[in-house]
Amino acid sequence: MYRSHNCGALRIDDIGKEVTLAGWMAVSREFGGLTFIDLRDRYGITQLVFDMEGSPDLCNQARALGREFVIQVHGIVSERSNKNPNRATGDIEILVTDLRILNESDVPPFTIENETDGGEELRMKYRYLDLRRQNVQEKLFFRSRLAIETRKYLAGNDFIEVETPFLIKSTPEGARDFVVPSRVHHGQFYALPQSPQTFKQLLMVSGFDKYFQIVKCFRDEDFRADRQPEFTQVDCEMSYVEQEDILNTFEGLTKHLFRELKGIDLPAFPRMTYDEAIAHYGSDKPDIRFGMLFCELNSVVQGHGFGVFDNAELVVGFCAKGQAINYSNKDIKKLTEWVQRPQIGAKGLVYVKYTADGIKSSVGKFYSDEQLKKWGSLMGAAEGDMLLILSGEAEKTRKQLGALRLEMGNRMGLMDPEDFKPLWVLDFPLLEWDEDSNRFHAMHHPFTSPKKSDIDRMLNGDHETMKALRADAYDLVLNGSEIGGGSIRIHDRELQEKNFKLLGFTEDEAKEQFGFLLDAFRYGAPPHGGIAFGFDRLCTLMQGSDSIREVIAFPKNNQGRDVMIDAPAGIDGEQLAELALKVVE
Ligand code: AMO
Repeated sequence: MYRSHNCGALRIDDIGKEVTLAGWMAVSREFGGLTFIDLRDRYGITQLVFDMEGSPDLCNQARALGREFVIQVHGIVSERSNKNPNRATGDIEILVTDLRILNESDVPPFTIENETDGGEELRMKYRYLDLRRQNVQEKLFFRSRLAIETRKYLAGNDFIEVETPFLIKSTPEGARDFVVPSRVHHGQFYALPQSPQTFKQLLMVSGFDKYFQIVKCFRDEDFRADRQPEFTQVDCEMSYVEQEDILNTFEGLTKHLFRELKGIDLPAFPRMTYDEAIAHYGSDKPDIRFGMLFCELNSVVQGHGFGVFDNAELVVGFCAKGQAINYSNKDIKKLTEWVQRPQIGAKGLVYVKYTADGIKSSVGKFYSDEQLKKWGSLMGAAEGDMLLILSGEAEKTRKQLGALRLEMGNRMGLMDPEDFKPLWVLDFPLLEWDEDSNRFHAMHHPFTSPKKSDIDRMLNGDHETMKALRADAYDLVLNGSEIGGGSIRIHDRELQEKNFKLLGFTEDEAKEQFGFLLDAFRYGAPPHGGIAFGFDRLCTLMQGSDSIREVIAFPKNNQGRDVMIDAPAGIDGEQLAELALKVVE
C-alpha cells in the first residue's frame, strides 16, 4: 500500500494515528534539531517532521532529499505547536518514523509553487511540471466539474451524447481546415472538423431529437488570446424547436453552470438585436457590465463649418462619467494616439469636457458653448463628465468607438471579472456581402435559416433584398466575449439550394461538398436548430483567467506551436513518400 491517506486529508481529530503518505517533496527547512518537509500531492500539503536527536539517520536521509523527489513516509499524526490557519492540514504534522524514496527528481527548471519564478515559455515547455502547481491544477479541476455539470444538465433534459468523426470532409464554419493526407488514397485528404455541424443535423434527420457532444473542433485561423487552433465545444442540436426553445434551454444550462460552479444565480438574460448591439456598442458582442452607450450626433454637429464632421458618414460618441478631471491635454493627446494606432485606425478624437470652469473641447472654435451643452444633454453628461467622439465611415467608426469604449471601461475599473453579465444577441444578418470576392458569405454558416418572415423575400427577392435578410441566428455573449452561437437551420431542400446559390456555390459544387446533407433532406428532415458553446472560453471567463491557454491542459502557444512536444514538426522522407507528398521549400 503506497498510502493510507492523501496529503490533504488529515485533521486534528486524526492525532495519534499511524499513517502512510506519499507525494512530492515540495519544501524543506531546518529549525534547530528538526527538519520540516512539505509533502505535496493533488489533495494538499502535509508537514512532515524529522527529529535529529530521536532518529539521526532518518533526519540525515530527509536532509538529503531534493526538490520534487517522490517519497513515501510512515509516521504518527501529531499536533503542531505553531499552527498554519491557511492550510487545511495546518493543525497537524507527521512525526516520521520511516522514509522511502520512490523516485528521484532532477532540479526542476522553475519552482513548483503558486507564485513561480518560471516565465510562460519555460512553463509551457515543461507543462507537466507547471500542471503540478496547485493553482494551475485548480483550473483543470474547475474545467472537469464544468464538463460534468454540463453533462448532468443536458442528460437531465433528455439529450443524448453522440460522438461524431474527426476524419471528415471540409465543414463550413468559415475558417481554414486542418487536413490529413490519406495514405491509401493518394492525393486525397480528410479535413478535421471545424465543428460537427453537418453530423448533428444528420442526427436530427435520424430522429435523435436532442443531441450534445463535448467535442474538439479544429480551425486553422489567425491567433488571438481567446482562440486556439484546437478547442472544445459543447455542441448541441434539437428537433421541433423554434429560437425561443433553444434560448430557454441554453439559458437554463448557463444558469445551471453558474449556480453549481460559482454559487451565482443569474437573472433572466437580456436580449438585444444585432442592429441594436452595433448601434449602441459598436460590437456584436457587447460588454454590458457598464453603460457608455453610443449616441449619434450627425443632426446636431453637421452644418456648422467643421469639415471633418460635415464630411463624415457618421459622428458618434459616448459619455465617460467623471473623467473630465482625469484627462489633461497631455492625456487626451495620448488617448488620441491610442485610437490612431493601426489596430484601431481612427483619424482623430474629439473631446468635450464639462468642468466647473466651463466647457472645454478640441472643437471649441467651431461650436458655441450652447451647442456643446446640447451635445452633453443628448448624451446625459453632467459637470465632471467628458464626451469622446469619433467620425468617419459608419461601420469603421462604430468599431473604433467600440474599442475606445472598452479601453475606457477598463481604465475606469468597470470591467470586474467577477461581475457576470450574459446576454443574447439576436437577428443577425443572414448574408454578408464581400466586396473583394464579389459574393455573399454566410454570416453564421450556410445551413442557417432566414427568419420565417424573410423566407419569401429570400426565394424571390433581388440582390439588394438579400443584403437585408435576417437570420434565425443567435449568439450568447458574456462580458464582451462570444461564448456560444447557433441558429435555426434550413430543413427544406429548395431553400438550402437557394442559399448555396447565393453563397456562390454552383449546383455541382454544392452537391460535391454537401450532397449527403441535401440528400438527407429528401427523407423527412424535421425542423431543427442548435447552438455550440465555446467551452474553453466559458471556462476562462468563469474563472477570471487572463488567457484561454490557462484552462487547457496542453495548449498551443500564440504561434500555434506546442513547445513541449515541439509540434508541428517535419516528417521523414519515407512517411512523405508513403503519403505521396513532397515538401516544397
Ligand atoms: P461558432 O463558429 O460560432 O458556431 O462556434 C461556437 C463557439 O465556439 C467558440 N469558438 C472558439 N473557441 C476557441 N478557439 C476558437 N478558435 C474558436 N472558434 C469558435 C466560440 C463560439 O461562439 N456549428 C456552429 C454552432 C451551431 O450553429 O450550432 C459553430 O461552430 O465561443
